[in-house]
Amino acid sequence: MKYVLIVVLAGIVAFLIAPLLLHEPPAPPTRTGSLEARFPLQTEAFKQPAAEDARWKEKRGHAFSLKDRDESEPSEDPRWQRILAGRPKPRPFPGGCLDCHASDGTVQTPYWEARARLDRPIGCADCHDPQTAVLRLTRPGLTAASTQERRTLVCAQCHREYYLAPGTQFPKGLTVEEIEAYYASIGFRDWEHAETGAAVLLPQHPQFEMHSHGVHARSGVACADCHMPFERQGALRITAHNARSPLLDVERACLPCHRFPPEEMKERVKTIQQRTEALLARAEDALVALIDDIHSARTVPASVLALQTKAQWRITFVAADRSKGFHAPQEAARILAEAIDYARQGQLQLTLQ
Ligand code: HEC
Ligand code: HEC
Ligand code: HEC
Ligand code: HEC
Ligand code: HEC
Repeated sequence: MKYVLIVVLAGIVAFLIAPLLLHEPPAPPTRTGSLEARFPLQTEAFKQPAAEDARWKEKRGHAFSLKDRDESEPSEDPRWQRILAGRPKPRPFPGGCLDCHASDGTVQTPYWEARARLDRPIGCADCHDPQTAVLRLTRPGLTAASTQERRTLVCAQCHREYYLAPGTQFPKGLTVEEIEAYYASIGFRDWEHAETGAAVLLPQHPQFEMHSHGVHARSGVACADCHMPFERQGALRITAHNARSPLLDVERACLPCHRFPPEEMKERVKTIQQRTEALLARAEDALVALIDDIHSARTVPASVLALQTKAQWRITFVAADRSKGFHAPQEAARILAEAIDYARQGQLQLTLQ
């Protein structure tokens, strides 16, 4: 009887810990040879182009990080052409672009000079130790306190606001106000607005910053939980390696934590995104109206140009995150409400002068 009990208990324990063991990365057959050769499943997924995004024609995920950079396309939205008036032509690119767009970046020479040496797009070694395959941070300035935090910071290496000076540098702070104050403290501006002469600060993909203000980050959910969910391949559970929109696979990306049908989850995302986009459009209209008023004003006080800079920085920040508010819905709404207020304040000052 006792032995039967022990066997049954041992069976239950084995049953309970089996999934934990399966979560572990599969033991590599050998530690020699490239990660690509040793992990064909991840490699195959990694090479698949992500779904194309109509607004930015060229989105194809990490394996295309170099090719897409050599031939990039600007936005065609007329409102955005007004907002981004005077944006310097992307060519010649500074070499610093390759810090994130090539494997083993960190260069300061002009783009094409550096490009001759750096001929590989983002690859396994940007996120993994080439021997052990353990997740690692390759870009300076970030340290993870836990494995779960590393599953976010590994993305924050590139998916956050930066400036080139001329190598890649990161501003201090995670909120629009903190980063704005940092740029003011070092006298940094991206360019001067061609129509009004206002300073322009253009944020680039602040996904890490926006995500940090959301309920998911607060609940310990990492970028990889949604963008690189587990998937089953025979007996193995592997991490999805084709960086793309989680909406293309809500079942794996969201349902491990949310008990709603996939359609309902998509509906919730859509509601957040539609609200954000509606507010964004109103903020863009307010900003373009301010630019028009500056045009027709006889004198333009510096304080009005400063309000344009503030409104513009906030609008482009929310747009550049590209989750359309999903990463942090309340933060996105807060930022856009302030942007509308700054733009209207600017118009009011011009009327009252
Ligand atoms: C700090 C890392 C980093 C640096 C440095 C960097 N990029 Fe990127 N870039 C990214 C990431 C991450 C994405 C994809 C995320 C996104 O588009 O939202 C991206 C996407 C792009 C895109 C496509 C989408 C878009 O936003 O227009 C273009 C074009 C681009 N980069 C151009 C450049 C150029 C030109 C430079 C050099 C001036 C540069 N990048 C430097 C990280 C970086
Ligand atoms: C942008 C970062 C990134 C790149 C690039 C990347 N991986 Fe991963 N990889 C991850 C993350 C995140 C995990 C999940 C790790 C964890 O949960 O601890 C992972 C997990 C793995 C694992 C563990 C098993 C599994 O599937 O969970 C292997 C093996 C692996 N990757 C191989 C590769 C190979 C081979 C390449 C190149 C073709 C590659 N990775 C490129 C981020 C990356
Ligand atoms: C070494 C820099 C780097 C790292 C690290 C990195 N990314 Fe990227 N990511 C990029 C660049 C550059 C692009 C744009 C590729 C292109 O289309 O040219 C991109 C594209 C993407 C896209 C596709 C965007 C789209 O519009 O479809 C997603 C999603 C994404 N990354 C998520 C992640 C996640 C999640 C992580 C962490 C596991 C991560 N990235 C780590 C640089 C990086
Ligand atoms: C709770 C899930 C979740 C987390 C956590 C999360 N994202 Fe997202 N992300 C999304 C959703 C949903 C979208 C919107 C996709 C769409 O509209 O198709 C998105 C959009 C994006 C995009 C634009 C991709 C595209 O195809 O347009 C990038 C890049 C991105 N996220 C990177 C990140 C990074 C980097 C982190 C961590 C700092 C992160 N995300 C954290 C769910 C998440
Ligand atoms: C690793 C677990 C995890 C994953 C994966 C995850 N979520 Fe969540 N989600 C949470 C937690 C925890 C909360 C906070 C719940 C609370 O405190 O009420 C949350 C909250 C939300 C909320 C409410 C947001 C708010 O601001 O109040 C929405 C909507 C949501 N998730 C959608 C999604 C979608 C869509 C995906 C897939 C792209 C996803 N989640 C993936 C754990 C997760």
